[in-house]
Amino acid sequence: MHAHGRDLIRPTIIAGNWKHNPDRSNGESLLRDVMGGVEERRSRMVGDPDSVEVLIFPPLPWLGWLSASGDTAQDSLPISFGAQCVAEVSMGAFTGEVGAQLVKDFGAQWCLVGHSERRTLFGVDDESCARRVRQALDHKLKPVLCIGETLAQRESGDTRSVVGEQLERGLSLCVEGEQPVIAYEPVWAIGTGVTATVEQVAEVHGFLRDRLCELRGSGAEATPILYGGSVKADNAADLLGLSDVDGALIGGASLEASSFLGILDAGIACRGGREPKLHE
Ligand code: 13P
Repeated sequence: MHAHGRDLIRPTIIAGNWKHNPDRSNGESLLRDVMGGVEERRSRMVGDPDSVEVLIFPPLPWLGWLSASGDTAQDSLPISFGAQCVAEVSMGAFTGEVGAQLVKDFGAQWCLVGHSERRTLFGVDDESCARRVRQALDHKLKPVLCIGETLAQRESGDTRSVVGEQLERGLSLCVEGEQPVIAYEPVWAIGTGVTATVEQVAEVHGFLRDRLCELRGSGAEATPILYGGSVKADNAADLLGLSDVDGALIGGASLEASSFLGILDAGIACRGGREPKLHE
């Protein structure tokens, strides 16, 4: 077992998963408010503002909208964007699918893979996740592989075996040096208002870090592992303060600018605790 510790090689990632929300007019104002809030915080951050990354995973039409409004010269934006899902196949006769290449063409830099709603409602299994991760990497999108156990699996003591297997199988088509971001989202904590306790989160993240190191070698130390599941502005500091929690994947609370920015504030504050002090 390796020693866990705060690790400055990993950025802190605060990511909003909008899921199938909101409608167009609310989305525009949400985006504007979030963008303004992030900009303002970056301007007064001490240290490297890129040490805290903000990502939004909106429904796909927003990527086209951002691209059309010229905003996907995304280097100039304080936020990066991603798709909530990418196809497991490349372009072709696959009605209804949107793949990594197209998502990338429209300015996204990231994608989620294997969110629990895709797994349970749309039949995405671990093998499919592996192919989607592969597609993302082949098209220079950064995948976030989502994993997590159900309540029944936790109660029967299977959490480690379930998430360990999801991790291994989801990464099975990655080659050396490729390292997707991981999001641990216990299914029972998603959208329920029931957040995993800091002890539960610390335990699973520590286990995942060890498992990643076994599977992927020492490069795994640089892999961000995010927590998701009922993260709110008032519980974010406790979760983000844990040494193996490198950020949050936020559903409901990302639909309101003030709560999302509140979580970002917690991330920035925790990051502050991680930076080496250069000046007194
Ligand atoms: P909630 O934050 O609404 O629980 O959703 C978590 C999630 O599924 C993020 O991907």
